[in-house]
Amino acid sequence: MFDAYKENSALGSFIMIDKITNSTVAAGMIDFGLRRATNVHWQAVDVDKTVRADQKSQKPVVLWFTGLSASGKSTIANLVEKKLHALGKHTYLLDGDNVRHGLNKDLGFIDADRVENIRRVGEVAKLMIDAGLIVLTAFISPFRAERRMVRDMLESHEFIEVFVDTPLDICEQRDPKGLYKKARRGEIKNFTGFDSPYEQPEQADIHLHTGNMSAEDAADAVIAKIEEKYLSS
Ligand code: ADX
Repeated sequence: MFDAYKENSALGSFIMIDKITNSTVAAGMIDFGLRRATNVHWQAVDVDKTVRADQKSQKPVVLWFTGLSASGKSTIANLVEKKLHALGKHTYLLDGDNVRHGLNKDLGFIDADRVENIRRVGEVAKLMIDAGLIVLTAFISPFRAERRMVRDMLESHEFIEVFVDTPLDICEQRDPKGLYKKARRGEIKNFTGFDSPYEQPEQADIHLHTGNMSAEDAADAVIAKIEEKYLSS
């Protein structure tokens, strides 16, 4: 709890104490609190999600790919996007590695950062849904709670969880970026599947067993699954 110093000198001032020496090392006064969401209201707009989606003759949806590193999320999502594009659909692919070069470049791989990574991506996907797009996301998104959080941000039919189910040993054999090798040598901390957990979806909307199917077949399976409900106008 705090207040501006000019409103309340007791709640508006503080000292900092060094916890080792117990000496006071700094003192401060609060000028004003940074504005947070409390005074922000939702602004209604006339051109809404339905109108934007209708213009594109499509139903907005998020295809949320989840799975281990090197499971094939990006490859399959990329193929699905190409197929959707060929069908004249308006899409956007948010890919973990790419988003971590820009919007999320301040985040690493400890649990808290992964949670924030997924929260931001969920909010961006929601904006894109509002723009009427078919959104594909390819993030490890290792925690059930955050995948659920994104599902809850959207309308129930707008979130399709796609589990790219590739066993850890196959991902490690593939190792296209050499990260598993590095992690085995102890050069990467908090690596998913080693010292950072991956919580498998309990009931994914689409479950791809990629051990015995090609990326092309997996992409076709995704398209087949969404065809009737989302792609027919
Ligand atoms: S998530 O867990 O926060 O959803 P995200 O999908 O954004 O992860 O990023 C994963 C990608 O970052 C991997 O495909 C891999 O290329 C790279 N990476 C770098 N360090 C790690 C790590 N410690 N664990 C997992 N992936 C990592």
